Amino acid sequence: MSESYLTTPIYYINAQPHVGHAYTTMLTDAIARSRRLMGDHVFFLTGTDEHGQKVDRAAQKANLPTPQFADQVSAAFRQMCRDLKISNDDFIRTTEPRHYAAAQEIWRRVMRAGDIYKGEYEGWYCTVDEIFVPEAQLVDGKCPTCGSKVERLKEASYYFRLSKYEKPLLDYYRDHPDFIRPEFRLNEVRTFVEAGLQDLSISRTSFKWGIPVPDDPKHVMYVWFDALTNYLTALGFGSGDAAAEDRFARWWPTVTHFIGKEIVRQHALYWPAFLMSAGLPVPRKIIAHGFWLMGGAKMSKSLGNVARYQDYTQVFGLDGLRYFVLREMPLGQDASFSDEAMLTRFNADLANDLGNLVSRAITMVHRYRDGRVPTSPVDGRDALDRDLVAATAATIESVKACFGEIHVSQALQDTWGLVRHVNKYIVERAPWVLAKDAANDATLDRTLYHAADTLRVIAALVDPVMPDAAGRIRGMLGIDSAEPWTSLQVGTLAPGAQLRPVDALFPRIEKTIEELRGMTTSNESTPAPTAAAATPATPAPAAPAAPAPAADSSISIDDFMKVELRVAKVLEAEAVPKSKKLVKLKVDVGTEQRTIVAGIAEAYPPDQLVGRTIVIVANLKPAKLMGIESNGMVLAASPEGGLPNLVSVDPSLPAGSRVR
Ligand code: MSP
Repeated sequence: MSESYLTTPIYYINAQPHVGHAYTTMLTDAIARSRRLMGDHVFFLTGTDEHGQKVDRAAQKANLPTPQFADQVSAAFRQMCRDLKISNDDFIRTTEPRHYAAAQEIWRRVMRAGDIYKGEYEGWYCTVDEIFVPEAQLVDGKCPTCGSKVERLKEASYYFRLSKYEKPLLDYYRDHPDFIRPEFRLNEVRTFVEAGLQDLSISRTSFKWGIPVPDDPKHVMYVWFDALTNYLTALGFGSGDAAAEDRFARWWPTVTHFIGKEIVRQHALYWPAFLMSAGLPVPRKIIAHGFWLMGGAKMSKSLGNVARYQDYTQVFGLDGLRYFVLREMPLGQDASFSDEAMLTRFNADLANDLGNLVSRAITMVHRYRDGRVPTSPVDGRDALDRDLVAATAATIESVKACFGEIHVSQALQDTWGLVRHVNKYIVERAPWVLAKDAANDATLDRTLYHAADTLRVIAALVDPVMPDAAGRIRGMLGIDSAEPWTSLQVGTLAPGAQLRPVDALFPRIEKTIEELRGMTTSNESTPAPTAAAATPATPAPAAPAAPAPAADSSISIDDFMKVELRVAKVLEAEAVPKSKKLVKLKVDVGTEQRTIVAGIAEAYPPDQLVGRTIVIVANLKPAKLMGIESNGMVLAASPEGGLPNLVSVDPSLPAGSRVR
């Protein structure tokens, strides 16, 4: 048995939680649950990052005293954990006394190591990202990370001798090639360090909303110095408590930080350097996932294109949302969050594939064997049974391995391979035909047994991602508690067990995209936090409906033709103010001219776009991006982690030509 200390980023409380925050929290939760099923002891931490100028200003804007504002928005993140059934063991707030003690203790240690000195910072600061931006890195005078306006600062400041850690960091990266996943992120950080590190300003004097620097309370700590320490605070670091040392020794060496890719530098560079200076071990592992995109741009409060997780749990249920995000985003890659994609996955994978299997397997045992699990002698198996048994055993192993590697999307794909296999097994066996002749009794018994037993395994394998559905399937099979993965194997469903009635797991959602859009606010911005903002509790999913016919996730030609792809000519192109990625295009689509906002600015300067012949989705519902209404979407291909490349067609084609 081993230990796993798992953390999410602590979230800024300048805005209400959205699907982006919910995702990292659900991903970490799925991994925490899988490790517990593997018999590990897990300590799972999440929480809120409450200091800094951004939060201070958001409180002023909301007309609330900053501590009261902080209490309120932090509570919304705590509520998010409850709504999403997050199995965290602790929820940390950086405004808690225990955290002040830890942050001041690490500061003192770094000071004692001779790595802090006093100076004056003069330069640029991005309040959205809470980072200092060297002049040379500004892009058109704006923050290179988020595209926001930067502010000029000139104030007394303490500095951390980051430059001293250039070599130790490079040595560490060399000796720990699997420090960051995916691997290419490590290369990015290495290249950055190799280019040379400058000392880092780690205190501010121009505002007060932060942790006072020990012995010099005119300064508050730089919010990242404060925030990163949260991972130590939760283990009792700085508390002076004797038991804390044991906790620290037990958990710290096992830590894995789950983060979004935009904060890799802080976690893989600043954080190890602070720790090295304080004489503490560097974190074991960093998992950096990609971004959820909406309309081609990162879902973010500052772009105003966020999806509220509550809207989606309301329509698709909690398991529907958890399944979608964990299936749709492979580790490290970006993924698009859209109502269409969610509806398709829900109906194909959950309502049809899994829902069908559950209802068939359970109903047949009730219909043909009075709800009692029949016996299935191993030596009576034929090729069909043996295939299914082998596939089940192989899927157990592959899913365990995938979770170990944080390949949750792959684990779900493998599990769905098994779901489809059992559905096919049932169709090939046709129990409804076997049941007509008593001479087939033994084959019918085997069929019913294997279908129900494989369903038991599937419930166990989806447990970390869909804990509610797993529990409900177990309930139908008469199993009371979760099955540990350490002993999970084929053929342990007890013969003679009494099954409970079928309970429709994922009733098909018979809604058009337009109806669905009316129920979600995915294309609108979430209101800024105010004194009145409340987080609604998760309502139950829709009432059960009849099980849907079996289908896979492939689409018909009619489905494809619903997407109106057309050739368009770019007439005008201009950068979108405050955005690094977005460009505003005026395009000719043959019958009209329209405005499209596209996330291609990093790859194509506006003047290189005018005159191009491109392909667009012409019948996409209008969406607002950075306050501009976009009427359509530009098609572009993006290699993993790379820039978009426009899909092009022969320029002689007239605007408006249909692409099919
Ligand atoms: N407070 C810092 C983190 C300090 S950790 C010591 C911070 N907070 S944040 O509120 O901006 O949250 C950022 C994190 O939220 C990302 O790293 C990611 O985990 C999650 N996400 C926010 N928007 C996201 C997407 N659009 N897509 C995926 N994850 C996103 O940075």
